[in-house]
Order: sequence, then structure tokens, then C-alpha cells
Amino acid sequence: MTRRQFLAALASAAAAGAIATIVPIALRNGDKKEPVEAILDTYPEKRIASLADLRRDTPLGFEYPNKGQMNFVVRLGAPARGGIGPERDIVAFNYLCTHMGCPLQGQYKKEHKVLGPCPCHFTTFDLRKNGFVTIGQATQSLPQITLKLDGDDILATGVLGLLYGQAENLA
Ligand code: FES
Repeated sequence: MTRRQFLAALASAAAAGAIATIVPIALRNGDKKEPVEAILDTYPEKRIASLADLRRDTPLGFEYPNKGQMNFVVRLGAPARGGIGPERDIVAFNYLCTHMGCPLQGQYKKEHKVLGPCPCHFTTFDLRKNGFVTIGQATQSLPQITLKLDGDDILATGVLGLLYGQAENLA
């Protein structure tokens, strides 16, 4: 697959509204001339809260994309990458640390808009910067749940990043 073909496949996936998980093998097929299809995960849309439910700096839990996979949505009170709402400050993330999967419930720190330190090995994730690791053992950002507004409803629409312990997020 040429770089141009790859970018075209990515653009058409985005146009279709799908969150793309491009399998790395698509990039390693450079010597072969046959077309390679991108493999996409198509996430369900799920109502997780309403704007009226959200209180600043008070995380609300929800399951997504599968039953038992815990996440939270929070209004940070400060603009964030991927944030929705009038102030672009509503974001959602998975609750499992990307280092070794320790649960992060109760670790939100409103004064710094971070999640952490993780009770296991102290990793802390910046919720204004797509869950980027600010300190600690983890090497991957916290998976961010993509959101959209439908009137007063907040909908989960996908996952950016691999959930801890999963070979595929939708498996
Ligand atoms: Fe969170 Fe190790 S499991 S830092």
C-alpha cells in the first residue's frame, strides 16, 4: 500500500464516521502490489449522560464500549483536546491504568485536571491533553472516549487507544 493509498483509505473511513483502528500490517505491505484493506472498528453510539447531569469536577462513570469496561466523563472547567460542549471542557476516559491495569477510580485531581497518581506505581494522566502521561511508569496515554452532543445528550462514539488487557477494543 502506498502512502497515498493509505491516506485515501483513512480519509474515506473518517468520512464514513468510523473511528479507525488501522492494523499495522497495512503499512508493511510495501513490496506487494495487491490492494490492502484497512481494518476498522465501528463503535456503537451510546448515551452516557446529559449536560444537565454534569457538575464541574465530578466524574460520572459509565460502561463502554462493552459491558464491564468502566470509563468516566467529567466537565473539567477548562478547555481540553477532544473536549465537547460550549466550553470544550467535557471529556471521557477509560478507568484502567495503561501500565498494568490498576483501577483509577477516585484519583481525579481537580486542581490539576489529571487522573492519578495511580495507586500501584504512580502514573498520572493529563486529561486536557488526550490522557498523556505526565509522570510514572506507563508509556501509553489513557484511552480517550470520543464524545458528541445530541441536544442535551452526551453520546460516546468511540475509543482512541487500546483498552488495557484487550487485543481488540470490541472483542
Ligand atoms: Fe498504574 Fe502501574 S498500574 S502505574
